[in-house]
Amino acid sequence: MSPETPVFEVKKLSKVFYARTGLPWRAPAVTATALDQVTLLVNSGEILGLAGESGSGKSTLAEILAQLQSPTQGEVLYRGKSLSTMSHQDRVDFRRQVQMIFQDPYESLNPRHTVLRTVSEGLINSGIRSRPEIVSRVEEALEQAGLRPASTFLDTYPHQLSGGQRQRVSIARAIVLKPAVLIADEPVSMLDVSLRAAILKLLRGLRDKMGLTILYISHDLSTMSYLGDRVAVLYRGQLKELGPTRQVFASPQDAYTRKLLAAVPSLF
Ligand SMILES: Nc1ncnc2c1ncn2[C@@H]1O[C@H](COP(=O)(O)OP(=O)(O)OP(=O)(O)O)[C@@H](O)[C@H]1O
Ligand SMILES: [Mg+2]
Repeated sequence: MSPETPVFEVKKLSKVFYARTGLPWRAPAVTATALDQVTLLVNSGEILGLAGESGSGKSTLAEILAQLQSPTQGEVLYRGKSLSTMSHQDRVDFRRQVQMIFQDPYESLNPRHTVLRTVSEGLINSGIRSRPEIVSRVEEALEQAGLRPASTFLDTYPHQLSGGQRQRVSIARAIVLKPAVLIADEPVSMLDVSLRAAILKLLRGLRDKMGLTILYISHDLSTMSYLGDRVAVLYRGQLKELGPTRQVFASPQDAYTRKLLAAVPSLF
């Protein structure tokens, strides 16, 4: 694999959701075309922003890339290898290398688990048994996620933390295995506006320090101008625009992108 091999190569990807009619002789009805022939690359080391209104297919694309859903048509290559025909070992490596951060830090953390237990899960699943090693790697991840001093957070439960701190715990959980790729699906949209910038800054810093590739999803284009190297715009499952963030903001090619940008008056 050359360093130029894209992290993800998405080829004519479609995803259709069907509803069962309950009548076996009738074909299932299409309820939503979540993705419609989407083709794009995610390059190594970049932050690709994925924007679009609610229901445009952002989470569906993220979940297919993370192998949490399978596509109806099309193909995804991860570092040149098709997700659908990966070997068992490649799949194990993929699960370590590609991590997700979800929107809701209240729902995505188990309220009965301490921070140590939550963040250490991936380490334990990957076979690490030494408690001192687990504690030191969890502390390292917490520090990197901006929870300092890390030792004071180990025994806390989610309800003892603020929304911003919880999202930092989710980020620590995602980076503890030293992944190559983070897929962050609306990581700041549930947070108070005052906390958002700090989390976005953290993600950008992690990309720089850990050489991560980040797919950053948001319906809010204003955050893309801060975080995205390139930005992709989805509308009703179709890719409407893809380009360097500055270029897209300065001269959007698609009418829908222009509409989205017009809704962000502070940028003009
Ligand atoms: N499991 C499902 N069953 C049926 N339809 C679904 C399912 N998941 C998503 N959809 C539909 O697919 C489309 C895309 O949904 P998706 O969640 O990917 O959008 P999104 O851009 O992430 O939206 P949001 O900004 O609200 O999170 C929507 O029309 C949605 O209703
Ligand atoms: Mg979504």
